[in-house]
Amino acid sequence: MHQSSSSFSIGLVIFLLHFTCSFHRLLAKSKDNNSTTLEHRHFDPNARLHQAYVALQAWKLVIYSDPSNRTSDWVGPSVCDYTGVYCAPSVDDPHIQVVAGIDLNHADIAGFLPDELGLLSDLALFHVNSNRFCGILPLTLAKLTLLHELDLSNNRFVGRFPMVVLDLPFLKYLDLRYNEFEGPLPSELFAKDLDAIFVNNNRLTSVIPSNISGSTASVIVFANNNLAGCLPPSIAKLADSLEELLLINTNLSGCLTPEVGFLYKLRVLDVSFNNLVGPIPYSIARLEHLEQLDVAHNMMSGVIPAGICSLPNLKNFTFSYNYFCDEEGPCQNLTGKEVAFDDRQNCLPEKKSQRSKKDCEAAYANPIDCFENHCGDSADGMLPPPPLPSAHP
Ligand SMILES: *[C@@H]1O[C@H](CO)[C@@H](O)[C@H](O)[C@H]1NC(C)=O
Ligand SMILES: *[C@@H]1O[C@H](CO)[C@@H](O)[C@H](O)[C@H]1NC(C)=O
Ligand SMILES: *[C@@H]1O[C@H](CO)[C@@H](O)[C@H](O)[C@H]1NC(C)=O
Ligand SMILES: *[C@@H]1O[C@H](CO)[C@@H](O)[C@H](O)[C@H]1NC(C)=O
Ligand SMILES: *[C@@H]1O[C@H](CO)[C@@H](O)[C@H](O)[C@H]1NC(C)=O
Ligand SMILES: *[C@@H]1O[C@H](CO)[C@@H](O)[C@H](O)[C@H]1NC(C)=O
Ligand SMILES: *[C@@H]1O[C@H](CO)[C@@H](O)[C@H](O)[C@H]1NC(C)=O
Repeated sequence: MHQSSSSFSIGLVIFLLHFTCSFHRLLAKSKDNNSTTLEHRHFDPNARLHQAYVALQAWKLVIYSDPSNRTSDWVGPSVCDYTGVYCAPSVDDPHIQVVAGIDLNHADIAGFLPDELGLLSDLALFHVNSNRFCGILPLTLAKLTLLHELDLSNNRFVGRFPMVVLDLPFLKYLDLRYNEFEGPLPSELFAKDLDAIFVNNNRLTSVIPSNISGSTASVIVFANNNLAGCLPPSIAKLADSLEELLLINTNLSGCLTPEVGFLYKLRVLDVSFNNLVGPIPYSIARLEHLEQLDVAHNMMSGVIPAGICSLPNLKNFTFSYNYFCDEEGPCQNLTGKEVAFDDRQNCLPEKKSQRSKKDCEAAYANPIDCFENHCGDSADGMLPPPPLPSAHP
């Protein structure tokens, strides 16, 4: 997770350099004595700044708590001087200033987002993470047609997945994690040209849509939602972009689809804390960029394949709390390969801290047929409740 955000920040910096070179100039507000005079001389209260003024004042009215006084200087028409508000030359007319960014991260502000925010039609970045904004997103956000980054994480937004974000044509970065969005994840989300999708730690339900297609995201984090169902084979369609897939604690069931082996750019695959059964697909041995693989806390069984342990970039392989019964060659000595690993609570006869013989025998009593339980066969992508695993050779 940590890694995802840092790698994304690099992307963000590159984006800023390419897309809004002038952004930085505006971040540095003039400190000399004449700046006020200069601003007044150049201050052309253009219609767009006036709209922004209306929007920001309407917002201030529905801010009920601002313990760090971030909005206390939101007074008067000079919106470019407001804390957290960043102006830049307009994309369509470089001679006029417009509000291009809002950054109120970590302000602990309580309030909600009013309809008037739709007036901020020049906004490229909207970052309000770690506040106490609540309620639902106004539909007028659809008017923010230049928005590239929307970070609403760690707030108290509620309701169904905010479909309005799907209407934003230039959106690249969507961060809705740590809110209380509920209900299904729309399949349209995967048809959008996004670089990153963070929806973890919400109350989203329903299966991962079986018609995932067209997504260009490099990072997808669904962790800590109750999606249920299985990971559909159509995940393979994300092969040309996906680098990190985090499905921790999403109530996934069924066998891990061998199609994950098509995700050749993958660096992080984490399906821990689910109800997966059956073997680790051999196809994962094709993922030569894979650095972190975590399948811990499932009901997986069978042999740990040699090809996975020989992956050139593997740094951490966690497979504890499953029912694996054997490890091929290099998997027996991951310490020697300088790979961090956790093999506890399996059925590995030679290793310490394993499950009891009784538990292991019970688990291997009923075989699992992954071919028969192929994900996506039933209309809704759901599988019957998983039987206890077995795949002992
Ligand atoms: C700004 O004005 C103050 C007094 O009004 C003066 O002491 C200071 O040197 C001035 N700074 C600049 C950069 O002109
Ligand atoms: C400030 O304004 C005065 C006269 O208007 C001018 O002489 C001076 O150079 C200006 N200083 C700066 C830092 O622009
Ligand atoms: C914010 O403003 C209030 C009232 O002016 C003041 O009591 C409080 O200490 C300020 N808080 C911060 C963090 O500056
Ligand atoms: C996926 O299927 C659902 C329901 O069958 C449909 O409403 C949706 O448009 C489809 N999405 C894509 C991206 O094809
Ligand atoms: C997990 O998903 C299954 C369906 O696959 C469902 O029956 C079960 O209630 C879900 N678990 C929780 C804790 O909601
Ligand atoms: C594992 O490999 C390391 C280095 O190759 C070696 O020193 C160590 O003895 C091996 N351990 C076992 C249990 O084979
Ligand atoms: C390996 O990854 C797991 C989570 O996937 C983490 O808990 C553990 O600390 C990592 N180990 C090392 C040595 O980085």
